[in-house]
Amino acid sequence: MENPLLPLGDMEPEEFRRQGHQLIDWIAEYLAHPERYPVLSQISPGQIKSQLPLAPPSQSEPMATILADFEQVLLPGITHWNHPGFFGYFAISGSGPGILGELLCAALNVNGMLWRTSPAATELEEVTLDWLRQLLGLPATFSGIIMDTASTGILTVLVAAREHLGLHARQHGTSGLPPLRIYASEQAHSSIEKAAIATGFGQEGVRKIAVDAEFRLDPAALARAIAEDRARGWRPCCVVATVGTTSTTSIDPVPAIAALCREEGLWLHVDGAYGGMAALVPECRQVLAGCDLADSIVVNPHKWLFTPIDCSALYVKDPHLLRQTFSLVPEYLQSPEAEVTNYMDWGVQLGRRFRALKLWMVLRHFGQEGLAARLREHLRLGQLFAGWVDQSPCFERLAPVPFSTVCFRARPPGAEEQEVDAINERLLQRINTGGEVFLSHTLVQGHYALRLAVGHIRTQERHVARAWELLQEGLNHELG
Ligand SMILES: Cc1ncc(COP(=O)(O)O)c(C=O)c1O
Repeated sequence: MENPLLPLGDMEPEEFRRQGHQLIDWIAEYLAHPERYPVLSQISPGQIKSQLPLAPPSQSEPMATILADFEQVLLPGITHWNHPGFFGYFAISGSGPGILGELLCAALNVNGMLWRTSPAATELEEVTLDWLRQLLGLPATFSGIIMDTASTGILTVLVAAREHLGLHARQHGTSGLPPLRIYASEQAHSSIEKAAIATGFGQEGVRKIAVDAEFRLDPAALARAIAEDRARGWRPCCVVATVGTTSTTSIDPVPAIAALCREEGLWLHVDGAYGGMAALVPECRQVLAGCDLADSIVVNPHKWLFTPIDCSALYVKDPHLLRQTFSLVPEYLQSPEAEVTNYMDWGVQLGRRFRALKLWMVLRHFGQEGLAARLREHLRLGQLFAGWVDQSPCFERLAPVPFSTVCFRARPPGAEEQEVDAINERLLQRINTGGEVFLSHTLVQGHYALRLAVGHIRTQERHVARAWELLQEGLNHELG
């Protein structure tokens, strides 16, 4: 039974104002001093859950109590991606304008599935993605859509690429199809294989192509694989080239791959989720060389463009094909406007957040020069760190550094090769439990590699220098 004495409706506007001011103050303080917190959360599994009630509250609770729990219970379980000592994976930044954009997005809470369900959401997305396209030097033949992640982008692309073959999988499903093949380097991101699992290509539908000594896809090996597959009854469908692979950030030779795709009539998707953004720095524009010939390309503003997660930009040459592949409009979603973009037709997602708002605010707040200056500084810091590694007798670099990410390992003189992986594992563990910096790891040519990726908006030279100091101290300790 409903209690007639309970007030209905939302939080009172005055309370919202008061709480909101307090929360903004908290956020401003947090952003000013993220170094107060250990970068990597130091709690053990289950520790957060054990402090939370098993059952939901039956009565209203004051916001002050909720926020106190946020600080006391949840904050210790936060890994601080907004910390300048965050060097793991690829850093992401919740920048000031990006956070304000998120706040407005939540306040308006529009669903941009159709143009008419919020014309500004659709049109701002079109304009903002066109700005980003220009900033990256991509041709005007690309049209963009914002997705949550690059993983959703590749999933969307694989379905469209299959439709492009004219096999009518949309209508008939995949059971009668010849086996289809997608090609990507052995260094490409796991999202390709996951998308293949989800879309019915299957893991065997992804053929991994060998790389050269600098971890770049070998176009000759790709050509051989395609020819071999055709001879064996496979139907080649799509090639994924990567600009900035996840482990070593290598750049596949897109011009040569694009030429091969053209000869073979294959869809070319470029995964520039991390590295593509470097093209915003005028002197680095060549990282996207050849991408004008691609059918689709993804770049992630939420990785290296200071836009809070999530925000991934997928560009396609032929949005009509996306609509042919995905558009399905039940009566209740019919709308009278012709000649407008209804983004729900471009992929699997119906409801859509107004993500363009935060990206628009980031682009306007920093401007092209401000963004390029920040990326340029990250590139400089990556090179600086690589130089320290190169000069050290106790460390070695394991891959070239085309962007701001360095793969390296401790290799103390006299250490036996079979001990080196374990030394590095322990070193990483020591560094990360210290709480000042966080680095992640990968495997490079079978070696356990430490990986320092500079990409957070608040990271300065002193943070990178501190990471280097900690690594040296940690290794000294390790060697006793
Ligand atoms: C090269 C590359 N592609 C794709 C992805 C997946 O990105 P998302 O988390 O946006 O799906 C990553 C993630 O690090 C990546 O490094």
